[in-house]
Amino acid sequence: MKKFYISTPIYYSSGKPHIGHAYTTILADVISRYKKIIGYDTFFITGMDEHGQKIETIAKRENISCQELVDKNSLIFEKLWKDLQVEPNFFIRTTNEKHKKFVQEKFSTLYSKKFIYLDNWVSLYCIQCEEDIVDKKVVIKDDKKYCEHGHEIISRSEESYFLKTTEFKEWIINVLDNQEIVIDPTSRVLELKNNFLNDEFRDLSISRNNLNWGVEIKEDKNHKIYVWLDALLNYISGLSICNDSFVDKYWNDDKTEIVHLLSKEITRFHCIYWPIILKMLNYRLPSKIISHGWIITSQGKMSKSIGNVVDPFELINKFGSDSIRYYLMKEISMINDSTFSEDLLVTTHNADLCNNFGNIINRTLGLINKYSNETIPKYSRTENNDLVSFENTIIDFTSKIEKTINTLDVNLIVKEINILENNINSFIEINKPWNLFKENKIDDLMYFLSLLSNSVKILIFYISPILVSKSKEAWEQFGFPKDLFTIIEINKFDSIDNIKVNNSKILFERIEKNEN
Ligand code: MSP
Repeated sequence: MKKFYISTPIYYSSGKPHIGHAYTTILADVISRYKKIIGYDTFFITGMDEHGQKIETIAKRENISCQELVDKNSLIFEKLWKDLQVEPNFFIRTTNEKHKKFVQEKFSTLYSKKFIYLDNWVSLYCIQCEEDIVDKKVVIKDDKKYCEHGHEIISRSEESYFLKTTEFKEWIINVLDNQEIVIDPTSRVLELKNNFLNDEFRDLSISRNNLNWGVEIKEDKNHKIYVWLDALLNYISGLSICNDSFVDKYWNDDKTEIVHLLSKEITRFHCIYWPIILKMLNYRLPSKIISHGWIITSQGKMSKSIGNVVDPFELINKFGSDSIRYYLMKEISMINDSTFSEDLLVTTHNADLCNNFGNIINRTLGLINKYSNETIPKYSRTENNDLVSFENTIIDFTSKIEKTINTLDVNLIVKEINILENNINSFIEINKPWNLFKENKIDDLMYFLSLLSNSVKILIFYISPILVSKSKEAWEQFGFPKDLFTIIEINKFDSIDNIKVNNSKILFERIEKNEN
């Protein structure tokens, strides 16, 4: 069986989740579900990045322990994934004892291989971003120094362990140039080379000696491991925590397709440092890194001070998870920044889900009830060219959609599903079953209803990774058995012969736009 492993970044436990975190995680869930329905053995991981100075500062401010803080926030993230029907195979937390041990072991390996050395570290550092800020990127305002995201930065001088990343500079440039890891969109490669793999590229500082809340270095108890080394290793530690054989199965096997999903601000860590760490540790490289754009709002980037942070819990209460999932997968570009719009979410819900998808289900069930005694007729071809040509349209769709799924371009998958829906609607309008009935063309009418039911079966199957709960409801309304829900069965036109359909119920209620 073909194997597929997908990850999201592990999110900082310092705050609450917003729509951006929800977007990446839903996207990973959707892609993983798509791969699964076309026959892959998939593993999907997400989780929490729970160490670092930011956590320490916030815990102190809230007068609770760091562990209490990360426990509290991790529960909120986990609840969000449950409410959004995101179902990871594993939810990793970097405070997990086995993860910490894994990180310490890998540090020791790198140390014994002499990829690590101790030196003095002088730098400008952003605590919010947990990263060094090179001189070029420092923004000076009113005599204070800020990073490009507007956080105040500090200067630090301390002893630190360093990873000899500079030794691998040419190697990583080659990896990126030769697409040994496919970076999507490819334009990010040039950005990485211009902005980071330049004369200012330095060895990476990988320890802190003024931090309490972090993984201790066994070789030197005065130091804690830098959050990014700790965090990146989750992609492999998570597999090993889950099952002893999963590192071999989902990582070490060259045939596994490994995909990291993240957005542009942390591309550097995933596309430069992570591959170098893997190389040093003799691990294979991921197949693809998808670095999507940001969700912004009409007032610009989301920020607490502007008060424009979009809360996914509020959206779930208003619109339900399927509508949010569908809106995000259709309207948020996987490449460029996109503006979040609640107005567009409502429009998409009404137009695509009520008037189109929901209506197709309702209409088809209505036609079966009216003309075929609530039973899907037996699949039997007639000479009617319009009907035969629609059968070919459906076959074309199923062969094409599998290729599109393998590109992992969810925007494109939704487009193809929308085309299928349009074709189904035109099929009804052009062939007018009510006329076939009037003209007593019963064989054509039965063939029409069989094709229509098959096309809807295929539509429900291929929309199911996005509309997780409504697709189940639709499947049940048709009375389709569960074991038909496989890529092999879905392509057989006679597999739903004589199935008695259930009553149709409205799948999506219209939402009135809030005019305020
Ligand atoms: N903890 C690090 C990642 C370590 S991974 C080894 C981190 N955490 S984070 O909480 O800041 O999450 C960053 C990720 O959240 C982004 O890479 C992206 O996937 C998602 N998003 C955060 N804000 C976003 C938007 N405004 N829009 C879209 N996705 C965004 O960085």
